Amino acid sequence: MSEKGLAAAPRVVHVSAASADYDVTVGAGVLSELGRIARSAAGGARCCVVSETNVAPLYADAAEASLAGAGYSVAERVVFAAGEQSKRLATLGEILEALAERELTRADVVVALGGGVTGDMAGLAAALYLRGVAVVQVPTSLLAMVDSSVGGKTAVDLAAGKNLAGAFWQPAAVVADVRCLASVSPELFRDSCGEVIKHAVLADAALLDELIARPITADQLDEARLADVVARNVAIKRDVVDADERESGVRQTLNLGHTIGHAIEAASDFTLGHGSCVAAGLCMMARASARRGWCSDETAGRVEACVAAHGLPTGSELGADVLMRYMAHDKKRRGDGVNVVVPAEVGRCEVRRVSLDELAELVALGR
Ligand code: GLY
Repeated sequence: MSEKGLAAAPRVVHVSAASADYDVTVGAGVLSELGRIARSAAGGARCCVVSETNVAPLYADAAEASLAGAGYSVAERVVFAAGEQSKRLATLGEILEALAERELTRADVVVALGGGVTGDMAGLAAALYLRGVAVVQVPTSLLAMVDSSVGGKTAVDLAAGKNLAGAFWQPAAVVADVRCLASVSPELFRDSCGEVIKHAVLADAALLDELIARPITADQLDEARLADVVARNVAIKRDVVDADERESGVRQTLNLGHTIGHAIEAASDFTLGHGSCVAAGLCMMARASARRGWCSDETAGRVEACVAAHGLPTGSELGADVLMRYMAHDKKRRGDGVNVVVPAEVGRCEVRRVSLDELAELVALGR
């Protein structure tokens, strides 16, 4: 790990989405810059940190100290129970009531401190409270840094499925301190690599080759390298969000690996991690694409090599019939068909519309 205090200058990736533009600041130790960044991006007099029971004890004091140092009056933090089971309407209601009790005004700022669940919940609370207040996203997990904190998707789960109620609400700023990754469990860190690999397959062939040669692992946290990998992931996502904020076109490519991955995840009753399922779905779709002649065997081989190098599953034991049962109910299904994302080559992917029968053939080919 690079010496604390001598970290390289933060990397700033600028997002210019249709509805808002903002900076994503990535680096080691940038949590101490949160107040300055929030003040210049969002202004306001008061702010409130929303976090969960695992993350708040680790980083909320530092976040609030930075916010207070920048002149904010910091309201009592709102902390909900950690875990996906909190990502529901009842918890969202509690967060909204807490913001109202603290008398936050429309000029004030919500600070979402935590992983993907926190970013989604606090982001949606900010979108709804007083019909919209500024939110600054402070992701503390790898998945949240490379994916969910950027692009403005916020949501809660419903009984019928994950992320079924939400809003697009872009943050005023994102502050990603890679030092926070030291507190992420090795299992969760490895799982998140599924989304990192997905981004590399989508748009950065050099990154994929680097990751094959030198996988990122939780036991070798090199801050400079992590900041580089996170910033490059954010830049990939930024390019997509800038072009298509509302997912009517190119943003669909971010679903690479997700059609089959979501089915594996649901079939496991969500006991398998999201990133691991995406990794397996990515490999299966790459193998199927190679067999269909949509990409080369070499492309599929590189995808699989990267996934295997990170200790993630390259496929699933589940039968095509089982997976199809879940895919037939996928929320992204449109009519009788599904848009699947397939690698054309490493760094370039395509959206193809297939019927459910063709999808079943692809799944069988990819196993
Ligand atoms: N995580 C996919 C997206 O933001 O569109």
